Amino acid sequence: MLLPNCRGVFGLLLSLLLASTPVLAIWPAPSSISTGESTLWIGSGLSVTYNGKILPWTFGYEPKGSKFSSSEIVKGGVARAMKSIVQTNFVPWMLYNRMELETTEPSLLKYKTYITHLDITQSGTDTSKTFKPLAGEVDESYTLNVDKSGKASIKAVSSTGVLRALESFSQLFFQHSKGPFFYTKSAPVSITDKPEYDHRGVLFDVSRSFFPVDSILRTIDAMAYNKMNRIHIHATDSQSWPLEIPALPELHQKGAYAQGKSYSPADLAKIQQYAINRGIQPIIEIDTPGHFGIAALSHPEIVAGWDSAPWSAYCAEPPCGQIRLNEPRVDPFLDKLMNDILPRVSPYSAYFHTGGDEVNFNMYNLDPTVGTNDSAVIVPLLQKFIDKHHARVRKAGLVPMVWEEIPADYNVTIGKDVVIQSWLGDEAIASLTAKGHKVISSNYNYWYLDCGRGQWLNFGQAEFDTFYPFPDWCSPYKNWRLIYSYNPRANLTAEQAKLVLGGELAAWSESIDDATIDDILWPRASAAGEVLWSSPEGRTQLEASTRLAEFRERLIARGIKSGTVHMPYCTQGSNSTACQYL
Ligand SMILES: *[C@@H]1O[C@H](CO)[C@@H](O)[C@H](O)[C@H]1NC(C)=O
Ligand SMILES: *[C@@H]1O[C@H](CO)[C@@H](O)[C@H](O)[C@H]1NC(C)=O
Ligand SMILES: *[C@@H]1O[C@H](CO)[C@@H](O)[C@H](O)[C@H]1NC(C)=O
Ligand SMILES: *[C@@H]1O[C@H](CO)[C@@H](O)[C@H](O)[C@H]1NC(C)=O
Repeated sequence: MLLPNCRGVFGLLLSLLLASTPVLAIWPAPSSISTGESTLWIGSGLSVTYNGKILPWTFGYEPKGSKFSSSEIVKGGVARAMKSIVQTNFVPWMLYNRMELETTEPSLLKYKTYITHLDITQSGTDTSKTFKPLAGEVDESYTLNVDKSGKASIKAVSSTGVLRALESFSQLFFQHSKGPFFYTKSAPVSITDKPEYDHRGVLFDVSRSFFPVDSILRTIDAMAYNKMNRIHIHATDSQSWPLEIPALPELHQKGAYAQGKSYSPADLAKIQQYAINRGIQPIIEIDTPGHFGIAALSHPEIVAGWDSAPWSAYCAEPPCGQIRLNEPRVDPFLDKLMNDILPRVSPYSAYFHTGGDEVNFNMYNLDPTVGTNDSAVIVPLLQKFIDKHHARVRKAGLVPMVWEEIPADYNVTIGKDVVIQSWLGDEAIASLTAKGHKVISSNYNYWYLDCGRGQWLNFGQAEFDTFYPFPDWCSPYKNWRLIYSYNPRANLTAEQAKLVLGGELAAWSESIDDATIDDILWPRASAAGEVLWSSPEGRTQLEASTRLAEFRERLIARGIKSGTVHMPYCTQGSNSTACQYL
C-alpha cells in the first residue's frame, strides 16, 4: 500500500496502515511509506557499501576534525544507526495488546531471514555548503528500500540525506523479549522522503543555566533522531557569560558562574563538529545590545544600567544591562569580540545570530551617552549599531540573524539577507513576511518550552496577592498536542509562506538545567520536529500519538530521558482510539 503524503488522505491511510501493522512508526512521518507484513532480522554483522565500496564501520565511530568528509560522515551515521538497532533498542511490550507480546512477536525458532547488507548510494557530491548550508542549500531527500529477501538500500543526493535515511532505517527494528535479537515485522519497506522546512531547530540557552558539554551533545543526538537540523546556542546573556573569548578572557573569567563553567575554544569546536557530523548546523548567538549586562563585570565602560533597580523599570528580568549606544569604546570592543568569535563560527555555520530582543528604551535614560528614552534619539543610534554589527557578520562570510523586535518594534532597517526569528505571536509572522523578510518561527503561544511551569521569581508580601497563584508570563504549559497543532505557515499567502524557512523550539533556561532539559525538550520538540519535517496536511493527534509514544520509547532506550506520551493503556495494540475523548 503506497501512502502518498498528499493532503487529507494521508492521516486516514496511515491510521489504516497502523491498524494492520501494529508496530511500525517512523518519527517524523516520511512523505510516503509502504510496508508489508514479512519479518526480517538484523544483527551487528551487517555489511555496508557506500557508492560501491565496502564501508568498514565500527560501533562508537566518531569522525574527527574540522575537515568534513562525506564517507566519514556516512560511516559515523552507520555506526550510530547500528548502535540504535542492536545496542540501545527496546522490547515494545507497551505497543502490543495486554499479555500478547510473547505470542505476537516473531518466533525465534523459525528460519530467520536476515538483512545482511545495506547498499548506500549518494548521487550528488557534497560541497562545503552541504556542511554549513543556508536554508535550501542542501538536499536532504532520500529513499530507503528493504525487500522481503533482506536486501536493503538507501539512495540520497547528499550525505545529509543518507543520515536522514539511516535514522529511518534504525527505527524499523525492535528488540525481541527473549534477548539480543532484532527484527522488523513490516518488510518489504519502501520510503521516499524529504523535509517540508529547511530550518528545524532547537534554541538551547546556556547562559541562564550552565550546561556541561555532554548535555549539549546529548541534545544534538536527540535532535538527529528527530531529523532536526539547527541547534541555536544562545551563548551569552545578562546572567552569565560562559563563552570563552581568548581575545577578551576577562569576559568569562569574571562573567561565568564559576571557574570551569565556561566553553573553551576546544569545547565550542567539539560541539560544532559533533553537530555537523549529524547533519545539524550550529548557530551561535551573542545577544546585543540588550541581554548584555554581565559584560559590565569586566567592561563597565560599554554597559548601561548594569544591575539597575528596580529592574522591572529597565529590563525584562534581572540583572539589567545593555550595550551603550553612543559610546566610542563600544566599537573597538565589538570588533575585538567579533574578530575572535566569527572565525571560530564561520567554518561550521552559514549564520551568526546577533540577538536584538527586548531592548529597553527606558534604560537609555541611564546610559550617560544617550540620556533619554526618546525613540527619536534612540532609533537612529540603534540603526547605526545594527548596520555596523551586521557588517562585521557579513565580512566574516556569515548571514546575520536577529530577533524580530529589531525590524518590527524598533523600525530598524535590516538587509534582505537577514533571517528574522519571530516569537511575538500569531500576527508577527504574517506582518514580517508581508514586508518580504525571511523568518523562522518560535511563536511563544506554541513553541516556548519553558512556559507554564510557574514563576521563577520570588514575591514578597506586597506582591504575593497580585501574582498568586504564580503563573508565568507565557502560561499555560505547551503540551505536545498544542505544539503539534501549530502550522508556522498558517494564514499566509503562498508567497509569504515561502519566506517561512522553519522554526525553533525555545528552551529558555531560567528554570531548566542539565537535570531537567531532556524532559523539557522531549517529546515536545519531537512534535514540532514532525511539523517541520512532514506536510501539515492530515495531521491528527489520534494518528500521531501512538507513533510519538513509540518514538519516545526509542528516545528512552537511547539514553534521552524524555517525558511520557501515554500510559501503556493507551498504546497497547497501537490503537490510540482507546484514549480518545468521547
Ligand atoms: C521616559 O523617561 C521619562 C523621564 O525620565 C519618564 O517620565 C517616562 O516614564 C519614560 N517613559 C517610558 C515609556 O518609560
Ligand atoms: C515604529 O513605527 C510604528 C509605525 O509607524 C510606530 O507606531 C512606532 O512607534 C515606531 N517605533 C519606534 C520605536 O519608533
Ligand atoms: C489563523 O487564523 C485563524 C482564524 O483567524 C486564527 O484563529 C489562528 O489563530 C491563526 N493562526 C495563526 C498561527 O496565525
Ligand atoms: C481500537 O479500540 C477501539 C476501542 O477500544 C475498538 O473499538 C477498535 O476496534 C480498535 N481498533 C483496532 C483497529 O484495533
